[in-house]
Amino acid sequence: MKPTIALIGPGRVGSAVAKKLHAAGYQLTAIVSRDRQRAIEACQFIDCPSDAATDQLVSVTSAEVILLAVPDDQIQSVAQQVHSVCDPRNPPSLIHFSGLHPAAIMQSTTDIHTTLLCLHPLLPFANREKGYYALDQCPCAIESSTPQGILLGKKLATAMGGTPFPVATDKKALYHAAACISSNYLVTLIAMARDLFIHCGIESEHATPLLLPLMRAVFANVEELGVEQGLTGPIVRGDVGTITKHLQQLEREAPEFLESYRALGIQTATIGEKSQRLSLKRAATIKDILEQ
Ligand SMILES: NC(=O)c1ccc[n+]([C@@H]2O[C@H](COP(=O)([O-])OP(=O)(O)OC[C@H]3O[C@@H](n4cnc5c(N)ncnc54)[C@H](OP(=O)(O)O)[C@@H]3O)[C@@H](O)[C@H]2O)c1
Repeated sequence: MKPTIALIGPGRVGSAVAKKLHAAGYQLTAIVSRDRQRAIEACQFIDCPSDAATDQLVSVTSAEVILLAVPDDQIQSVAQQVHSVCDPRNPPSLIHFSGLHPAAIMQSTTDIHTTLLCLHPLLPFANREKGYYALDQCPCAIESSTPQGILLGKKLATAMGGTPFPVATDKKALYHAAACISSNYLVTLIAMARDLFIHCGIESEHATPLLLPLMRAVFANVEELGVEQGLTGPIVRGDVGTITKHLQQLEREAPEFLESYRALGIQTATIGEKSQRLSLKRAATIKDILEQ
């Protein structure tokens, strides 16, 4: 039997996840928004009956699983509100979607038997429609301190079309930092390259589109060959002269990017070493130049 589900916070993640679970045959008993009209609108998106829509938190009490798809900073307090309205003898399972917080952030101060789970889809939810379609085959991190929580996470992630994988509770900040580096910092790197193109006189509206084919080719190389063998460019080639010229012109014309260029270059030299295409000696020379 599939457990019944209530959603608190029908935003980007909550609506997309609820729509997937509804399509997979899970019954949604309550869609809770602070504004009932938003809850009705979310029911339409999810394609579930609009009588599930409510602005009353107490409506979640009939569900066996409650999704807390609220901002990270609100998870703990919303969980406490849920505990205060639910029957402690028959507590529901609680799920949040934060990549950072442990599931235990939802622990009740009085009850220790609730199944608590963090289910983090490793995906940027720009909006609920894109999120819904991207959930297919999306890696989903599962974190819980109990086997029941892990089992529930695997079932729900799979029902959503995702691929569950475990993350240790004491490593969540590292895990989330990795997620931020691979998504947010990637955007920062693109912005840096775009701004350097603009420094070269390329018109700003052309700068990002000109970079995209290069970046797509890099993704394809990494996907096919892996990180180490997917690396190309002057550092892995050991072209010390080229790197020196980069540093010189950056220092003269775009010094705001120099520190980042140096730091990323040092990391890149380490990848070059691991690829076994850059000798340890040449890597050391490059790192020396970058550290100066
Ligand atoms: N966006 C992403 O890319 C992404 C990816 C993976 C995981 N996550 C995680 O998913 C969770 C939700 O993120 P989201 O991007 O879906 O956020 P969101 O689109 O802003 O939705 C959050 C919802 O929570 C409700 N809410 C806001 N403040 C609240 C409060 N003080 N009390 C109760 N409800 C409140 C709002 O619903 P009403 O206004 O209708 O009440 C809002 O629609 C977060 O834990 C986030 O870390 C996000």
